[in-house]
Amino acid sequence: MYKNPVTLRLFLCSAVFYSFSLFAMLPKVAMPEAKKQEEIVVLSTDELSSASKDLYKKLRRAAQQGFFYVEMPQEIAELLEHAVDFGSNFYKNEELKAVKLPTGGGYKDWEHAQMETFFCERSYWEEYYPSKVVELAERLIPFSLEIFNRIFPLVVGKLPRDRWNKAVGDLFEKDGSYHFSFNHYRRAKQMLGIQEHQDFGYITLLFITKDGLHGKFGHDSTYQPIPRKEGYIIVNFGKAFEILVNDTSKLIGGWHYVEQITEEQGERISFGLFSDNKHQTPLHRITETGDLEVVYENYGKYLEASLAQVDKKGQKTATSGN
Ligand SMILES: [Fe+2]
Repeated sequence: MYKNPVTLRLFLCSAVFYSFSLFAMLPKVAMPEAKKQEEIVVLSTDELSSASKDLYKKLRRAAQQGFFYVEMPQEIAELLEHAVDFGSNFYKNEELKAVKLPTGGGYKDWEHAQMETFFCERSYWEEYYPSKVVELAERLIPFSLEIFNRIFPLVVGKLPRDRWNKAVGDLFEKDGSYHFSFNHYRRAKQMLGIQEHQDFGYITLLFITKDGLHGKFGHDSTYQPIPRKEGYIIVNFGKAFEILVNDTSKLIGGWHYVEQITEEQGERISFGLFSDNKHQTPLHRITETGDLEVVYENYGKYLEASLAQVDKKGQKTATSGN
């Protein structure tokens, strides 16, 4: 449970961390407390690589809920400590705190959340991240796409196979946009870790060092904790995926927020990989007949529109938090 009554209802679509992270706000409303606990789908790496009926049943449910856990492959787990180390130190490094990247990346000090963030797009990874962190992020890309590949056929209806890559801005050819982002939560600030939001892109792979994340499962109006699960990555689907699928009975972008982190809870770090359209490609939605309709002429416009909505509300922008 969070400490503060949640009065801001903003939806923050992260994923691209583009200039800040991309989120949009909703009018003020109190978020209800969790009343019942939905069972979160848990997948092992063996299950993920299988083609069993049970796998597809689980993935369908995960798509309807917006979140699930997936076991961390060894090649990812063995590099995790390097990312935890970077996440525990970037906010103490004055040089990193001065970094401002052209797309709004780099360090960001969030005024209306506990979170402070360092994020950047793939082309900047080698410049700002330690080599082992870059290695981890690069290993996460194919893993993210493997998950995406498993989910995609289950939710895209009549969209022909030869249009899949076009539908998602070349993401299937590993030519999408990837952001690796770090968040640290300042416990002295008396406010939420990060407000309610949906990530902006298709799929987020998230690591958290402490509990505090809460998610709304599917169309359920209540939030429930998504606890840290040792050895597992939290996967959540974003707004762009929800727009593309165009049928929230099949797939929904998971709404989530982070509660106020207290001194008693101790330091909380999170980091994640966000996979999106290549920015120059359109954001589509799939029609009932399996055609592609352009929703935004390019992904960058989609981000700009989302940011404009944020600016209109006079809110500070932020990177996606988890
Ligand atoms: Fe997020």
